Amino acid sequence: MHAGLLEQAVQKIKNADRVIAFTGAGISVESGIPPFRGESGIWAQHDPGCLDLRTFNAHPEAAWKEIRVIFYDYFSAAKPNAAHYALADMEQMGYLQGVITQNIDYLHQQAGSQDVIEYHGSSHRLVCLSCGERKLVDDGDWDAFPPRCIKCDAILKPDFVFFGESIPARAHRRAMSETLRADVWLVVGTTGEVMPAASLPLEAKKNGKTVIEINIKPSNYTAGVTDIYLEGKATEVLQALVRSLK
Ligand code: APR
Ligand code: ZN
Repeated sequence: MHAGLLEQAVQKIKNADRVIAFTGAGISVESGIPPFRGESGIWAQHDPGCLDLRTFNAHPEAAWKEIRVIFYDYFSAAKPNAAHYALADMEQMGYLQGVITQNIDYLHQQAGSQDVIEYHGSSHRLVCLSCGERKLVDDGDWDAFPPRCIKCDAILKPDFVFFGESIPARAHRRAMSETLRADVWLVVGTTGEVMPAASLPLEAKKNGKTVIEINIKPSNYTAGVTDIYLEGKATEVLQALVRSLK
């Protein structure tokens, strides 16, 4: 990462009224959570069909077996890393007004970020598609697997967005409003391939906002959308940013 670019990013952030971080799977890689795409990604090992709403509804038991391995067995051991903490620090220092995350791992909140928009929902909650009941995940949910609704006994679904489902309306509204409000978008660890999430930084850019990107390699944003590209691991770059902001 070029020191001059880091300094440019620091100045943009210091001069902004409102800064929003937009995060993807890359920020959680250093917590031991694999990304989705790429050679060692989740989709190289598991069939994304288990996250297709129609497949889930048709074969919930089979889909849940796969989902449990991917999102509960190895996610539950993950802890926030220095990148999550750096964003929480930035918020505390008054240099960051919120996080929009595509991740469902709850690590931003665990690191202490206060204002987190979970654009794709959360693995920490379960929802009943029959009666609308929601609950937080607890150990009891695994006793009589798959977990069922206490009100109507239907099989519960993780309360994150499956393929074929729309984005939670409130999260989408709040995220869209930031494309007009926030002066700086700090885009961390996302390929920008999955719509509609991927369009948020594009909208911000169209509205004249500054896009600062952190990634270990160029993404869909880097060439045409990003204003300042800070190449490197999320932990290293965000820690350097926080040090320079102090
Ligand atoms: N630091 C910074 N960036 C990293 C790191 C790291 N340590 N490790 C990987 N990356 C980058 C990769 O280069 C890649 O650009 O993180 C990105 C991860 O990309 P994806 O796996 O495609 O994840 P994401 O963009 O969040 O996926 C979006 O797709 O299926 C879904 O709903 C799911 O929310 C997810 C959405
Ligand atoms: Zn129910």
